[in-house]
Amino acid sequence: EHFVPCDFPLKGKKVVVTAGPTREKLDPVRFLTNFSSGKMGYAMAEAASRLGAETILVSGPVAIEAPRNVEVVNVESTEDMFVAVLEHFDSASIIVKTAAVADYKAKEIHPQKMKKKDGEVTIALEKTTDILSELGKRKSHQILVGFAAETNDVVHYAKGKLEKKNADYIIANDVTEEGSGFGTETNSVTLVGKNDIEVHFPQNSKKELALQLFHTIIELEKDEAL
Ligand code: CTP
Ligand code: CA
Repeated sequence: EHFVPCDFPLKGKKVVVTAGPTREKLDPVRFLTNFSSGKMGYAMAEAASRLGAETILVSGPVAIEAPRNVEVVNVESTEDMFVAVLEHFDSASIIVKTAAVADYKAKEIHPQKMKKKDGEVTIALEKTTDILSELGKRKSHQILVGFAAETNDVVHYAKGKLEKKNADYIIANDVTEEGSGFGTETNSVTLVGKNDIEVHFPQNSKKELALQLFHTIIELEKDEAL
């Protein structure tokens, strides 16, 4: 990959961003999900577009408005998200997996509404596809960027995920920190990359942070090409 330093360094590049939670159905009226608001992912998509990229935003169900000049693909389940991302994978230069993907889904989706019964209920769950890992196995020219929300040992876990998923960068944040994490307007993160790259970004609006993150990645990749 070669990025030209200019006002629109991503011009001519395709960036795929995933955002929001995924939703795993239990029955026709219930699902498993998480607290992701989609704000960080939408900010990443907006930043990519502002930097000149053709931007595809693959979004789980969220309650926020899509940025302008971004092609939105709405999905619900993890498997749907995987299919949507794969569709753009070959032509993408950068894939940013901001989505808070559900780790588990029901082993069987009940075709009818489950009825209340006496006593305890057990729902058998199985793992969803790890989209980032699957992309890591398939990648050729693509720059793969993951996100990781943690409550402790943030950088340590991020480094583990970087290796295990064959990603190029993991952007990690401590969701227990004030003003960081789910639903907030602000965030503070650490960008972790190969060769012990570790760049901390202090608290800022998610929109500003998204621009800084892209600028830093573009700068780091420019050095890679030398
Ligand atoms: N991810 C994914 N598919 C999954 C789970 C996670 O693509 N089924 C991606 C997320 O979008 C994120 C990165 O992997 O970019 C890290 O997600 P995270 O939940 O922090 O990591 P997990 O591997 O699921 O580990 P854990 O939840 O146990 O910390
Ligand atoms: Ca997870």
